[in-house]
Amino acid sequence: MAVRHLSRRANTLSPLLPYTPNHHTRYYASAIPVPTATTSDTTNANPQHEAALSHPDPAADSQSARFTSQHDPYHIATYAKAPPVMVKGFGSRIWDMENRSYLDFTAGIAVNSLGHAHPEFVRLLAQQAGTLAHCSNLYHNAWSGELAKLLVTKTRSSGGMHDAARVFLSNSGTEANEAALKFARKVGKVRDPSGAKHEIVSFTGSFHGRTMGALSATANPKYQAPFAPMIPGFRHGKFNDIESLDALISEKTCGVIVEPIQGEGGVHEASTEFLQALRDRTKAVGAVLIYDEIQCGMGRAGSFWLHSSLPPALHPDIITTAKALGNGFPIGAVVASEGVSSAIMIGDHGTTFGGSPLASRMGHFCVEKLSDPSLHEAVRKKGQQFKQHFGRLREQFSHSVGEDRGRGLLLGLQLMSDPVPVVTAARERGLLVITAGTNTLRFAPPLIITDGEIEEGMKILGEAMEAAFRSPSDIHGQLVGRQQEIPPVR
Ligand SMILES: Cc1ncc(COP(=O)(O)O)c(C=O)c1O
Repeated sequence: MAVRHLSRRANTLSPLLPYTPNHHTRYYASAIPVPTATTSDTTNANPQHEAALSHPDPAADSQSARFTSQHDPYHIATYAKAPPVMVKGFGSRIWDMENRSYLDFTAGIAVNSLGHAHPEFVRLLAQQAGTLAHCSNLYHNAWSGELAKLLVTKTRSSGGMHDAARVFLSNSGTEANEAALKFARKVGKVRDPSGAKHEIVSFTGSFHGRTMGALSATANPKYQAPFAPMIPGFRHGKFNDIESLDALISEKTCGVIVEPIQGEGGVHEASTEFLQALRDRTKAVGAVLIYDEIQCGMGRAGSFWLHSSLPPALHPDIITTAKALGNGFPIGAVVASEGVSSAIMIGDHGTTFGGSPLASRMGHFCVEKLSDPSLHEAVRKKGQQFKQHFGRLREQFSHSVGEDRGRGLLLGLQLMSDPVPVVTAARERGLLVITAGTNTLRFAPPLIITDGEIEEGMKILGEAMEAAFRSPSDIHGQLVGRQQEIPPVR
């Protein structure tokens, strides 16, 4: 049964990508003889529950469990990981060590927007690695300038930040935000050499990263408490609360950072009025406005940047990006206006790896693909397809499913209770989906996902909800799937 399931799904790869049948066959069609957890599972308490599943979580005596038990003792345990071991991907699917395919509605948390193992990405990666992977920022290289130029031109031509001028390349989202916060502090120093203009403002529900500056801006005690005290000079306001802004943002403020859609916080959109009020107030006090588009940018919201669809009067002074910028290759970037860039002097900031020829080559490829307006149009349509299904689920499970939120292919579905049983039940039926905020299911699939794959995944999700809402205690693995949960401090 599991084998039939695998071959049916493996035959529906994205037509948007130039995948060849041979490529597909080479990887997966010969998956049949591999023993699966369906035949070897001994840990699940309820064999009937298990027999109905195509992808039961690997059992204690499975190949996957033996593998992880050898390695888990060596990991510092910062994540509660689901039992399957993921070994390969293609398009919108991932395969585990038991050789079962999962439809991926997560894209590695909004990273693999072009899908897994995109053939051109793979070719360029190998080519650039074989040419020049790294040479340090002490020298020019063939690709970092090309990427910076492409980011600036695509930002402007997409209708985004009209005065985008220069780029700093980093290795991750948190480092992009760290650089942006330092740049805002430096602008504050230039504008007011007394040092009084140093405050950074951020908002409740935000997530900006795990390094100390980005963490200080992440207004969530869950992430901050274990590492207190935070860096001085950070203030937190209420998201979407326009009334509070006059008191919150003052002459002492050098920078304000906001996610146009809060991803980790539960897929909550900033209102246009709130962004307008932020822009007006930051202009009035001479503070830098930073849009953290690390999760919602790069085409995910149905435009190149989310703010590309907003009028120029709402544009920021800095954009930060990462995630889909590398489609899995670690990279981040800060796009800044000339006004901000001119405050930064040689030696003010730096990085060993950021802007390497290899990272920049991959970033350049991704920006070219992800800035394509026809992709954005397709993303908006697919977002509507998801929303129609959300409406049906709301009708079917009216006591358990609430509103949906978000844009394009960054979507949240509010549940009335803990979403983890649904996440687990979906995974055990071959669908990967993640959580966010409070009781929210988050959907961030590859942008190249097909209509057929969306239909297939939503059918599985309906079945998973049916099972999870009927008897949540039957769904084992209840603690698995909390992407941002941290263990209690001992
Ligand atoms: C909006 C936002 N900012 C910053 C980050 C941190 O990025 P990274 O995990 O690459 O450091 C994330 C990661 O989830 C994010 O969603």
